Amino acid sequence: MAGPTHHKERTLTNIAILGSGRVGGVLAAKLADSGHQVTIGSRNAADISATWAGTPVAVADTATAAESATVIVNATPGDSSLERLSALRSALAGKILIDVSNATERGPDGMPGNLRYPNDSLAEHLQAALPDTAVVKTLNTMIFTVMADPRGLKIPPTAFLSGNDGAAKDTVTLLLADLGWPAEWIQDLGDVTTARGPEAVMLLVPALLRRHGMIPFSLTIAH
Ligand SMILES: NC(=O)c1ccc[n+]([C@@H]2O[C@H](COP(=O)([O-])OP(=O)(O)OC[C@H]3O[C@@H](n4cnc5c(N)ncnc54)[C@H](OP(=O)(O)O)[C@@H]3O)[C@@H](O)[C@H]2O)c1
Repeated sequence: MAGPTHHKERTLTNIAILGSGRVGGVLAAKLADSGHQVTIGSRNAADISATWAGTPVAVADTATAAESATVIVNATPGDSSLERLSALRSALAGKILIDVSNATERGPDGMPGNLRYPNDSLAEHLQAALPDTAVVKTLNTMIFTVMADPRGLKIPPTAFLSGNDGAAKDTVTLLLADLGWPAEWIQDLGDVTTARGPEAVMLLVPALLRRHGMIPFSLTIAH
């Protein structure tokens, strides 16, 4: 497994964020602020370069970004992620893939609808398609602003981890710390099959969005 480089006392990582939308933007900005080398991988690198000009975040096409990084974040639509990431199999080999996406069919009102993988999970399909990559599911159970500002909620939120590779989950835990997550708010659920629970949380989301709009919220485990 390609590891992060150690820089002074801090561990700095070469990270590619695939997708320049709401999630990709928030994660890229905060991880770059923390000193990591961050490249957004986009279908339209030329178009979005101006948005990130003057910031520490680099922009490249999707394949170039994936090839250059040791940790890759999937922040693209979950219903088509399997095809997109399977095509990057060699670029992702020996690396960590952090999957924060949600795979739902879009409902007629534009809201997330039924689960794309109702009997298992996207994370499991990604792990099966990418056997040389350590897939870690996390952060999909909250609105994007919470991912990089967990202390902004009144009640501590939970970040779940699901994945087969313990060392990869340790690396993701360090990155979560840089996003503002204390260790006690992180729940390692176990292997990649445990992503079924967090992915199914999407069944709650349309009703919450209809009721509250896109306010910051997150699943949390009270204990
Ligand atoms: N929004 C949230 O609060 C939230 C919370 C938890 C999880 N998620 C999940 O995180 C992922 C990203 O969500 P988001 O809200 O950031 O979505 P978004 O604003 O729509 O951004 C998705 C990005 O994915 C890239 N992309 C690549 N292939 C695409 C395609 N075929 N169609 C559309 N976009 C494509 C695009 O970036 P380029 O044009 O640069 O390629 C696009 O900007 C989704 O899987 C979502 O379910 C979202």
